[in-house]
Amino acid sequence: MADKAKFGIEKLDELLGGGLDRCTENLVIGRSGIGKTILAAHWAAEGARNGETVIYLSTTMNKKNCEAYLKKFPFMEEVYDKIHWRFIRIDPKYILPLTREKVYEGLRATFGIEGEEIDRVIFDSCTDLELALADPVLYRRAITIMADLSYDYEVTSLWVEEAPMQGEWSSTKNIVDSVIFLNLLRTEEGYQRAIRILKKYRTKVPLEWIPYDITGEGIVILDGYLVKRGYEYEYKRG
Ligand SMILES: Nc1ncnc2c1ncn2[C@@H]1O[C@H](COP(=O)(O)OP(=O)(O)OP(=O)(O)O)[C@@H](O)[C@H]1O
Ligand SMILES: [Mg+2]
Repeated sequence: MADKAKFGIEKLDELLGGGLDRCTENLVIGRSGIGKTILAAHWAAEGARNGETVIYLSTTMNKKNCEAYLKKFPFMEEVYDKIHWRFIRIDPKYILPLTREKVYEGLRATFGIEGEEIDRVIFDSCTDLELALADPVLYRRAITIMADLSYDYEVTSLWVEEAPMQGEWSSTKNIVDSVIFLNLLRTEEGYQRAIRILKKYRTKVPLEWIPYDITGEGIVILDGYLVKRGYEYEYKRG
């Protein structure tokens, strides 16, 4: 198995220092419609293409609309059916009271595959878990338990989170090894989708906004980067 868990999007993998580090938790965050699911699907497809065991947990899609949506992308060709899609609805009554055992059991039943055999897991989206638990402390506990599980079984995970239009992000960002932020930036020409790696442990990453488009091919990273016009701070030496 390759050292890094790549997205299969060359420029993005390069920016990440080769891909996501194995046995870590990672987060893709951004507003609704920005491209989180498509990006996560690229990552799932790349794993499957490499013969890895990939589980995609979706709380919002179902079998039919997922096929009608994600299966159509060329990067899914030949690998869609190799991915273990799991369409779930999170109901508080199955997770409360929240204990480690309950989370383990729930995940085992949902995956239907032994933890040791799993290489990549996508959780799209953890916002539904957050809403179901309706308590930041409980939510943090839940994702910490899931992160522990990931380390125990040497799984690399990608969490997808919907960023609120206003207000604070949840605590997922504090627990994960890397945060990939997808955003819509205003430019002179209008709006531009752009990606920014907010953090990645052990790797020096560029801090710039990297423009991307979504096309029939999926996520396409564009050349160059976006900088703000005008600065709030100026660097002076000495
Ligand atoms: N074939 C395509 N060609 C061009 N753009 C597309 C295509 N398919 C989807 N898109 C764009 O991708 C966007 C949705 O991307 P995606 O489903 O990854 O969003 P998301 O961030 O997961 O949103 P949500 O939070 O609602 O789940 C759409 O708004 C659309 O603009
Ligand atoms: Mg989505």
